[in-house]
Order: sequence, then C-alpha cells, then structure tokens
Amino acid sequence: MAEPCSFAIFGATGHLARTKLLPALYRLDAAAALADATRIVGIGRRDWDDAAWRRRVAEQLHDQLPLDEAVLDRFLARLHFVRLDLSRPEDYARLAAVVADPGFVPNWVFYLSIPPQEYARVARHLAQHRLNREDQGWRRLVVEKPFGYDLESARVLDHSLHRDFREAQIYRIDHYLGKETVQNIFVFRFANLMLEPLWNRNHIDHVQITHAETAGIGERAGYYDGTGALRDMIQSHLLQMLAMVAMEPPPRMDAESLRDEKVKVLKSVRPIRPDAVHAHAFRAQYVRGWIRGEEVPGYREEAGVDPDSTTETFAALKLYLDNWRWRGVPFYLRTGKRLAEDRALIAIRFRHPPQQLFRDTRIERLEPNWLLMGIQPDQCIRAEVYVRERGTAMRVRKIQLDATTCGIDIDRLGAYETLLLDVIAGDHSLFLRSDEVLWAWRVVDPVLRVWAVERDYIPTYPAGSWGLEEVRGLFDREDHRWRNQLEADSEEQP
Ligand code: BG6
Repeated sequence: MAEPCSFAIFGATGHLARTKLLPALYRLDAAAALADATRIVGIGRRDWDDAAWRRRVAEQLHDQLPLDEAVLDRFLARLHFVRLDLSRPEDYARLAAVVADPGFVPNWVFYLSIPPQEYARVARHLAQHRLNREDQGWRRLVVEKPFGYDLESARVLDHSLHRDFREAQIYRIDHYLGKETVQNIFVFRFANLMLEPLWNRNHIDHVQITHAETAGIGERAGYYDGTGALRDMIQSHLLQMLAMVAMEPPPRMDAESLRDEKVKVLKSVRPIRPDAVHAHAFRAQYVRGWIRGEEVPGYREEAGVDPDSTTETFAALKLYLDNWRWRGVPFYLRTGKRLAEDRALIAIRFRHPPQQLFRDTRIERLEPNWLLMGIQPDQCIRAEVYVRERGTAMRVRKIQLDATTCGIDIDRLGAYETLLLDVIAGDHSLFLRSDEVLWAWRVVDPVLRVWAVERDYIPTYPAGSWGLEEVRGLFDREDHRWRNQLEADSEEQP
C-alpha cells in the first residue's frame, strides 16, 4: 500500500482530471493501494463545497467505470474541494490553510492538471505560501506535457519551476512511460541475452514507431490548434519510445542511470538541417472522411478550430542516431489523428540475409524478418521467421513467434495508476528529467521552425485513411514501406 499523502489536483474540473486522474485514483482505491489517511483535494474556480464536488465526481465515475458502491463511498469520503482562481494570489491562502490542517497528511502532491502556461505562476504562488518547503513532509509537483512550446520556452519554464522547486521535487509525466508495454521494451531487450548481438546497425535495417488513432481532437481545439501532432505526440511519447528501443543498457536500474541513457540517445540524434527538413519531416491535416461507417468532419470543421488552420494532425519524421550502435539506421516515426485504426506499434525490420540461398528454388523472394512490439490495443511482442512447409517441394512459410500473450487484461492497472503510485513512492524512473525534455525539443525544433514559416499550405488526407502516399518520400530505400498491422503479410501502402 502506498504511503499516506494528500493529493491536490489543480484543474480538478478539467478534462484530464475527469477522464484520467480521478478514474485512476478510484481504481487505486479499489485495488486497496491508497492508504486510509490519503485525501484528494480538488482545486478549481467553481463555487463548490466538498459535497458538490463529491456529487459531480460520483456522476462522472458512474459514466466511465463499473463501480463498487462500498469503494465509491470510501473514495468520495476522501474528496475535498478548495475554491481557487489561479490568477488571484489571495486565493492560495485557502489552500495553505488546508495544507496546515492537521487532518491532512503533510506529504503533498500538487498535480498541475492545468494549461502549461499557468505552471510557473502556480509554482510561484505555492512557494510564496511556503508550500514547497519540506520541513513537515514531502512536497511534489507533477506537471503534464507539453513542457513548453519549443526549446526556448521549455528552457524558460524549466528555469521558472526551478526557482521554487528542486528537480527532485518535480515529476514530469509522459504517460507512455506508464504503459506496461512500453516498459516491456526495456525488459525484453535487457533480460534476453540473445537479442543484444542483433540489436544494432549490423542486423537492423530500420525501425518504425507508429501511433495512429481514429479519434479527432474532440473538445481540445483550444490546446491542439497551434500545437499540432509533432509537439503533441512526437516530441514526447514517440521520442520516449525511440529512446527505449535505442538506449544502451544502464549500469543500474535507478532513475538517474535510466534517464542518463535516454538522454544519450536524444543527444545522438543527428540535428536536422533547415534545408533538409522536407527530406526528414512530413505533415498533413485530415479532411472529412469515414471512420467505422460514420462520416466525420474535417479538422478545419471541428468546433473551435480556425477554419484556415494549417496545424498538422499527422506528422512523420525520419531520424538518424549518430552513435556506434545505430549509425545509418533510419528511425521512422509517425503519428496521426483520424487515421484508419487505433494502434501504437514499434516495428523493427532486420536486414536481408547476406546470401540469397533460396533464389533457385521455388521461393522467389523472402521478406526480411520483422520484430513487432504492439503497444496498444494489442499488447504483444512477435518475431516473424521463416520455416519450411511440409511437402516435397521446397517452400517456406512465414510464422510469428509470440513472446507475450496478446489481448487486453482489463483488470491490470493503467498508465496513470502506475505513475501516480510512483509519485507517491518518490520514484523518478518513469518521469522525464529536465535535460531529457530539452534534448527532445532540440530534435524537433528545426522542423518546427521551418513549419512555422510555411503556413500557407498543408497537404490533406481523408479521415479514416492511413495518411498520404507522399509520406513515403521519407523512406531511404524503395523497399521500405509502413508496417500498419501486427498480422503477417499485411504490409500496406499508406
Ligand atoms: C496525449 C495527446 O498525450 O496522448 C493526445 O495529447 C493523444 O492528443 C494521447 O490522443 C494518446 O494517448 P493514448 O494513451 O490514447 O495513446
């Protein structure tokens, strides 16, 4: 069971708190992972008391989860509400009074589920009320991506947070690191000796990291328009997956050793020169189309989106890592909204065998081997290999060796539950360090700069497709193609 603590959620009535944090905290309670003394303090502008917030949370949870009435009662009893307008310094005194109340455990998590432009201001006000001081118990600040808007703003944000909080008090969430399948990359690589000799430029031809979703931007136009897919997904989640695939084994399993290795990967990404951006990056935006038999609006038709917006909803990048292990191996990253399927997949293609031994048999051409790591919705690791088919003729068949059981276990704790427990345990392993964030910005910054000035036109793709044929332009070689599926023999063109 986790250490008792008090959990303050800034932005308690917002989207993230409603859809992720409160359900995650409920599930932790249901799994008996929260200490009895743990309290959850919602912070928002509404003129609510505890009872009003509890009613609202109960309604929301009913809409989202199967509930156990006894657990729900216990969970609701943990909830309190503090009315606070982020921009009114005097309101923070109300929070300070709650923090000083001996009815609350003095270990505090301050979870900033608010627009990132408010982070620095809130951190400042917390410090002015000495709520960052750890004389009585620990104080931890949790922030969500995006950490800045580009390299420069990320530096400024970092500087502001560090004025009032030590790095050890800051937890930067990338919820992809909370996903079991992403952590499994690490275990699969470093718990199996047989992979290590193959895991390099001598044997791996290229790596693809795909995040596709059928959803559009929902109610998030305010955040998304002007942010775009490169910042929203690639700068954080996809680069984290790349780091997990490409990193060297850390000397130890502690947070700093792990993060040191990820930083080394990000540092080794070859900077994209301004005149090479078009060869390395591709963007597009969805227009009206069909998803699962339903017609959906185009991006510019979504509520709250500028009808002339050129924000990208699809982005793809080709990166090279200039280090001994990976030199010359392209890493293709792509992500998009309103694509044909919901799928996150890491696909690693091996090289051709050095000699085409089977050329003179009935086997015409063998595809190289693939290793597939399904992140979601199918969680699995599969290796595609060839075996001889039964019979007199020399024929081969591609089979898939499955290293994990596929399928979703709904009882498992999700990414947010894992990460919240880690915050309470004070474990930074799955959180981003300040230098890591800055190095990730350095990777995408050259592309952002060029795209920022080329705002007249953006290619479009129909909702429900896999994007555009033109994205193939990123590929180094003719025989490279996107791998969209886990199943064998279904490599498709976009
Ligand atoms: C978030 C992005 O960080 O990740 C969203 O802001 C995106 O735009 C989401 O939809 C994807 O997360 P998941 O876990 O659903 O793949």
